[in-house]
Amino acid sequence: MTSIINPNIDRSQLQNKLKELAPWGQSIHVMADIHTPGPLDTEHRWRLLDSMPVNFKGKSVLDAGCNAGYFAFKAEEMGANRVFGIDCNHYINQANFIKNFKKIKNVDFAVCSVFDPPKKEFQISLIMGLLYHLKHPFLAIEKLAKITTEMIVIETEALVSPDDTHKMQFVEHTFRNDDSSWWVPGEECIKGFLRTCGFPHVKSYYFPQVPENPFGFHYSTGKTVEGFPASQRIMIIARKHINSETESFFDELPNVSPSSSFPTTSYEKSQNSQLKDQTSHDSNFYWEEVNEYKRIKQNLEQKNTELIDYIEVLEKERDSWKSAHEELVKTIEKPHINKPFS
Ligand SMILES: C[S@@+](CC[C@H](N)C(=O)[O-])C[C@H]1O[C@@H](n2cnc3c(N)ncnc32)[C@H](O)[C@@H]1O
Repeated sequence: MTSIINPNIDRSQLQNKLKELAPWGQSIHVMADIHTPGPLDTEHRWRLLDSMPVNFKGKSVLDAGCNAGYFAFKAEEMGANRVFGIDCNHYINQANFIKNFKKIKNVDFAVCSVFDPPKKEFQISLIMGLLYHLKHPFLAIEKLAKITTEMIVIETEALVSPDDTHKMQFVEHTFRNDDSSWWVPGEECIKGFLRTCGFPHVKSYYFPQVPENPFGFHYSTGKTVEGFPASQRIMIIARKHINSETESFFDELPNVSPSSSFPTTSYEKSQNSQLKDQTSHDSNFYWEEVNEYKRIKQNLEQKNTELIDYIEVLEKERDSWKSAHEELVKTIEKPHINKPFS
């Protein structure tokens, strides 16, 4: 990670600055126990994204609708070599403040709309929590697809029930008491659209329920407060091509629509028949699997560190044997001055 915390700012100065830049959408760690005070459940969604086959290492990344830059900074932390975030003036000011405060390199921000995106190419485009806020969601995907060379990641509310998955719900500004939404797209609509934009390898993941999600209450009732069909949080990964790194992933986990079954990660496949009415159970199960994967990863990292330490010990031992050996050789070769003539 290339961030260095700025030591020359005192806490109250920082807190005043954060107040000045309010309101915040995202909660981002700035320093010690100070976070920007945003309600969006960024960490939860990052955990999901981090468990997906999305490799940021060495990539150029666009974070469309980046808000204060949480996902842009994460992509950089994960090794992206160039990240660009776009949003409106208010949020770009916040993102730039954090970037400058933490001296984060390789991440840049610009005031720019997804409908008139930068004239640059990116290997990965992130469209997180944005689609349903747009008046023309598919026009935005089309524009971003044109400047994306490898992969698009969409995280969104979506209609997933078999009756609704091919539809778009026009919500006329209010959805879950949130007045910043226009449409809730069906999962199959989004996937089909991505295919027609040149991203034929498409796979979606359902979000485990987040009980603490302020907008999550309708997941259990089946309807929003406005009476619209309840949506589900999903993440869709779409690739232009599949390569050796990703091939097995797409082979193992074929794209199955919710009309024939529920989501198809490996655990879901094995649990398919039990899944339909057990979303919260699925969530736990999902997180168990993610946590298990993380435990294994941590174990391996721990073992790796132990091995590196052990190699160091062996190298030291080898060096001390080497110098002992050299000493011995010198002693043997030294003329024995006191040796009596025979
Ligand atoms: C719900 S927030 C999601 C922020 C962030 N991507 C996340 O997932 O936490 C939606 C963001 O999209 C931005 N946005 C809305 N319309 C946009 C547009 N036409 N072009 C770029 N950004 C837009 C908003 O300003 C806001 O920051």
